[in-house]
Amino acid sequence: MRSHSSSLLAPFALWLCQASAAGPPVFSITTFTTSSTALRDQLISRHDNISRWSCANEPGVAKYALAIPRGGGNNLTAYAIAEYDDDAALNKHLAADEVSKTLLDWSKATPNLFAKDPTVQNLTVVDGTNFVKPEFAKAADPYIVVEAQTYLQGGLHHALEHWEEEVDASRQENGTLAFGLYTDPANKNGLWIVAAYESEEYLTNTHAKSPTALEVEEHTSGMRKSLQRTLLQKSGGFLYRGSPSSCG
Ligand SMILES: *[C@@H]1O[C@H](CO)[C@@H](O)[C@H](O)[C@H]1NC(C)=O
Ligand SMILES: *[C@@H]1O[C@H](CO)[C@@H](O)[C@H](O)[C@H]1NC(C)=O
Ligand SMILES: *[C@@H]1O[C@H](CO)[C@@H](O)[C@H](O)[C@H]1NC(C)=O
Ligand SMILES: *[C@@H]1O[C@H](CO)[C@@H](O)[C@H](O)[C@H]1NC(C)=O
Repeated sequence: MRSHSSSLLAPFALWLCQASAAGPPVFSITTFTTSSTALRDQLISRHDNISRWSCANEPGVAKYALAIPRGGGNNLTAYAIAEYDDDAALNKHLAADEVSKTLLDWSKATPNLFAKDPTVQNLTVVDGTNFVKPEFAKAADPYIVVEAQTYLQGGLHHALEHWEEEVDASRQENGTLAFGLYTDPANKNGLWIVAAYESEEYLTNTHAKSPTALEVEEHTSGMRKSLQRTLLQKSGGFLYRGSPSSCG
């Protein structure tokens, strides 16, 4: 009788489990501005340590990368690009001892850590428009580009269709290591693109000159209101989630 009832309940428990993990993914880019370069580098190193732990222990943490502005002109800013499978995975991560021990206790004990409060840009993953290749983890210095675009009223829907073509074409490009489209829950005309290339040269000479990229530019630029590009250098953590030894 007992085994009978538990086998009746098993599918229900499985369904509950799936329902609670059915998420939408939670994606964000956090900007940190520290009061010194030494503190920025410590902040990155602490996040990097947690990311290794997350890679080994938290399957719900899909991305946890640290980056700095490219070119060295700004030595106080760091970015964390993070994605969790769902809200539950984010909350579990924030509640982990590893996070409080490595980060929260330290930041509380370091009163002048930040020159201004960190800002969080929450973004919505556009379904089916994201990839990170394993080659990203192996690249010596992936050229990461974050683009914030806004479109004229009603233009985003149309632009997204073109950008989805660029995602598909980019999957075939051996030097395009990551590409993803995100909408902005706070701005219905906003589109964010996070991409990574093996080098600046690959972006300029190959990706940007591909027939698809040229066509997308031709069809979207007239509807676009603004474009802000931030060039980033990876400084820790992972965008590509592999096994614990190959997250990078
Ligand atoms: C990061 O982890 C390494 C290895 O466990 C440790 O030696 C180092 O002190 C940690 N760094 C920070 C800033 O916690
Ligand atoms: C950071 O940048 C500032 C302004 O360019 C410069 O004066 C300072 O020496 C730099 N510090 C480090 C540690 O690189
Ligand atoms: C971003 O999302 C997080 C987690 O879902 C939430 O706690 C936070 O308030 C949001 N921040 C903004 C600026 O919308
Ligand atoms: C990408 O493909 C081109 C042309 O086939 C080749 O020359 C280049 O070495 C490849 N690059 C990588 C990173 O595999």
